[in-house]
Amino acid sequence: MRQPSQSPRLSRRSLVGAMITLPTAITLGCDSHSVPTPRRRGASPSPPEGRRFPDGFRWGVATSAYQIEGAVKADGRGQSIWDAFCAVPGRISGGDTGEQAADHYHRYLTDLDIMQSLGVQTYRFSIAWPRIQPDGRGSANQRGLDFYKRLVDGLLERGIEPLATLYHWDLPQALQETGGWEQRDTAQRFADYAAIMFEALGSSVPTWATINEPKTIAEVGYVSGFHAPGKRDPEAAWAVRHHLLLAHGLAVRAFRDSGRARRICPVLNLAPVYPADDASAGSTAVAVADAMENRIYLDPIFKGSYPQDLLADQDKTAALHRVIKDGDLNVIAAPVDLLGVNYYNPVYVDTSGTYVMKHPTSMATWQQLYPDGLHDVLLRVRQDYGDIPISITENGIPTDDAPDGTVVYDPERIEFLRTHLAAVHRAIEDGVGVESYYLWSLLDNFEWSAGYSQRWGIVYVDFDSQQRIPKDSAQWYQDTIARNGI
Ligand code: FCB
Repeated sequence: MRQPSQSPRLSRRSLVGAMITLPTAITLGCDSHSVPTPRRRGASPSPPEGRRFPDGFRWGVATSAYQIEGAVKADGRGQSIWDAFCAVPGRISGGDTGEQAADHYHRYLTDLDIMQSLGVQTYRFSIAWPRIQPDGRGSANQRGLDFYKRLVDGLLERGIEPLATLYHWDLPQALQETGGWEQRDTAQRFADYAAIMFEALGSSVPTWATINEPKTIAEVGYVSGFHAPGKRDPEAAWAVRHHLLLAHGLAVRAFRDSGRARRICPVLNLAPVYPADDASAGSTAVAVADAMENRIYLDPIFKGSYPQDLLADQDKTAALHRVIKDGDLNVIAAPVDLLGVNYYNPVYVDTSGTYVMKHPTSMATWQQLYPDGLHDVLLRVRQDYGDIPISITENGIPTDDAPDGTVVYDPERIEFLRTHLAAVHRAIEDGVGVESYYLWSLLDNFEWSAGYSQRWGIVYVDFDSQQRIPKDSAQWYQDTIARNGI
């Protein structure tokens, strides 16, 4: 853990054991995917801390396409903004790219078997838009669709429920060249792509997520510029936020039009915002930070309006006012079936609006470690937005893992998971309807601008040999799932 420090107002990446009885040292390609069976279990023991989750609570793991798939030129896939961004010298730590990543495109059967051996009940993955529409528009690329059909079939055969995210940041580069998310038309293109996916997989995927973390796209892609498309243009970021919300709403509408009796949700990375000191308690600075971190996404989706305090600042939000058209808020507020919450960190703000670090961080220096923040943010959603069913769609920590033979010790991750799950459990006891938890991440992967320097998986990946080694935390998670508690 890193000790807290004072930091300028920058968001997230911009700052910028038990014996393993799981399959160890799996070096398998696409053809051979058998995985040793984990040890047999008797009746589930009681959770050691006595925190049992409600019956029917579902335990999952999450990944995203660009971070694990590799195979960027396979089967007609088009270029994404992340391929283009990685090609710009100096953008990604170590000059890394997602070209190979964890080679999941070819090794997905191995990865499905690992999930099954862990007892994982549900899997959140994302679909790479450029595999489906290489140029972001027009008819579907059948070979791209076939990959996700195979993946979903493989999940269902193993009794693992799929949760498919339509957009986890890999915009087709061709759409970037016509303006990307700054352009209103991109929202319509997204809805068309979504409709293709609902048609192709709508009857086998029970839960869909629209757009992963619109906040990160706007703040890190368009304000700090540490993510693709790498712009530093706060004015453009206002249009981007609105068009992402509009795209979400249009996709929800397309989903309802498809007639699927399934569920759809947004995925927001929420951060509880606290005053950094007595002077900032109740200050405008704290309210503004909360608006930008949370309400600017939650309010339009769940209340059909942008936060009034934000809109009232006409100077600051002129670029937002300019892009809102009649009827947009109705589209954005189309009813959803649940809310996906990604939780990584709280935010502390002083009277000048500067973000202050109060807790130790993980090796991702934007990530302050504060499990109670997860409890607080869940209660806040319930209090301000009502009883929406909630899924924790991401939560995790990077650690500096290295295999010791066939064992990978990662006690810091286990501690992180235990304390955060305790916070989720407390929120459930306090009446919040949390129905599932997706650990970020199944595999070590390409962590955006940090490249491969941060390992977020419960399964270690040797990126040279593509060997997979379940870490200690994988064993711990397997036990947690078996007990339905911590
Ligand atoms: C989230 C992203 C995910 C991963 C984790 C660490 O914000 O959605 O892709 O990078 O952070």
